[in-house]
Amino acid sequence: MSHEEERKLLDEARQGEVLEMPNNESTDKKVKKVYLESYGCQMNFADSEIVASILAKDGYITTKNIDESDVVFLNTCAIRDNAEQKIRNRLRDFQKIKKRNPGMIVGMLGCMAERLKHNVLEEEKSVDLVVGPDAYRDLPNLIKEVEGGHKSVNVLLSREETYADINPVRLDSNGVSAFISIMRGCDNMCSFCVVPFTRGRERSRDPHSIIKEAQELVNNGYKEVTLLGQNVDSYKWTEEDSEEKVNFSQLLKIVAAIDSSLRVRFSTSHPKDMTDDVLYAMAEHHNICDYIHLPVQSGSSRLLDLMNRGYTREWYQERIDSIRRIIPGCGISTDIITGFCSESDEDHQETLEVMRYSGYDFAYMFKYSERPNTAAAKKLTDDVPEAVKQKRLEDVIKMQHDLSFESNKIDLGKTFEVLIEGTSKRSAEKLYGRSSQSKVVVFPKGDHQKGDYVHVKITDCTSGTLIGEVVHPSTPRLQSTKK
Ligand code: SAH
Ligand code: SF4
Ligand code: F3S
Repeated sequence: MSHEEERKLLDEARQGEVLEMPNNESTDKKVKKVYLESYGCQMNFADSEIVASILAKDGYITTKNIDESDVVFLNTCAIRDNAEQKIRNRLRDFQKIKKRNPGMIVGMLGCMAERLKHNVLEEEKSVDLVVGPDAYRDLPNLIKEVEGGHKSVNVLLSREETYADINPVRLDSNGVSAFISIMRGCDNMCSFCVVPFTRGRERSRDPHSIIKEAQELVNNGYKEVTLLGQNVDSYKWTEEDSEEKVNFSQLLKIVAAIDSSLRVRFSTSHPKDMTDDVLYAMAEHHNICDYIHLPVQSGSSRLLDLMNRGYTREWYQERIDSIRRIIPGCGISTDIITGFCSESDEDHQETLEVMRYSGYDFAYMFKYSERPNTAAAKKLTDDVPEAVKQKRLEDVIKMQHDLSFESNKIDLGKTFEVLIEGTSKRSAEKLYGRSSQSKVVVFPKGDHQKGDYVHVKITDCTSGTLIGEVVHPSTPRLQSTKK
């Protein structure tokens, strides 16, 4: 995509009409209330905002009080068995509430709904409707079917649906940061993973609609957006009329150019697809945050191959080298699975080694949980005993604790630009926010407010938090703190 094309897209976004927020007062239908509870990844939370928007057009408002709701939705996750057990337990609660409030409709949305399909209705008597991630536009009809006395199911997956035209209703928002889905589904087929089955084929969203959504967030005072996809590096869009192509690094640059005081983050990067172009885009734009979530899963090339991840340990470490070279001081986090099929002590040691090599600031760490119908479930044996999985998980957690602490100690004495997200949970006299590297920073309140940028000098730390003081409170945001 040429610079001219990028400009055109931006101008279009700035001139574009502001999408109307759904307005329930203008409808003469009775206002009904929906209670939404979300589980799983950021994408599921972003989907709940789409669901709220679709229902708002049909006269629903959201409520935080289950007892006063007409419809209750659980937006579910299927990534590990314990995620599904949590949902099943929660449904027990709903069954009780339904006894008090018999007219209440209970729906299961999201990945567990997609995985179990019609079976949900047999297994969970409290559930009235089952709706997969690509069928949310059908929700108003499905609810009507249930009101008419039938249970209803729509778990059709789509090759096109991106909900591009739907303006999400921001739920539980701090008014500072918001998610924007830029793609859906996943084509990678990592052998352990259920996502390709629950979210279907990968498809990218029209960049015009992404820019419009980001611009509107800016107009509404938001200061940070996170672009979401299972594998953002494979974002690709071809303009219908001009055959112009937009890839992820180009999309990042276009979104960053909307407003220099809008922070841009993204998740998740895939080690096999993350290009240096993305890293250069980050280095060039001060408002693209210096933070990459780059799941490694395992440090053993043999296991990575069994996982069908498409890279070796050496390849992964080379990607880490590139990040360190192109974006000095970049925050890096990861995902790790312990006890995957046939994992030996040596494989486990290699995971600890790659962690040390990468010097992660943060990690999400899991025990392997076999998922039905995945390639690993069909072709490999889940043969690492539970106690060994657990012990290895503890080793990995211990290693990460040390790495996070080391990384935070290196920041002592440094000054970071922090976007304030709110009041510290521990003290009403303190505020918290995040640095560009995505570390949580806590500091005395002064006369600063949520949504402000401040420069904080770090004076102390724990393994999870940086603690500091605001310096030069009146300094306007540095426009180019990098390079
Ligand atoms: N698209 C992202 C991850 C999505 S799922 C990526 O490719 O990295 C989030 C994380 O859950 C994964 O990175 C993995 O570490 C973990 N996970 C996925 N399936 C799992 C399973 N069957 N058991 C344990 N952890 C799993
Ligand atoms: Fe799952 Fe792999 Fe796709 Fe991530 S990239 S969602 S781990 S299949
Ligand atoms: Fe869970 Fe589905 Fe996300 S399985 S992790 S909610 S894509």
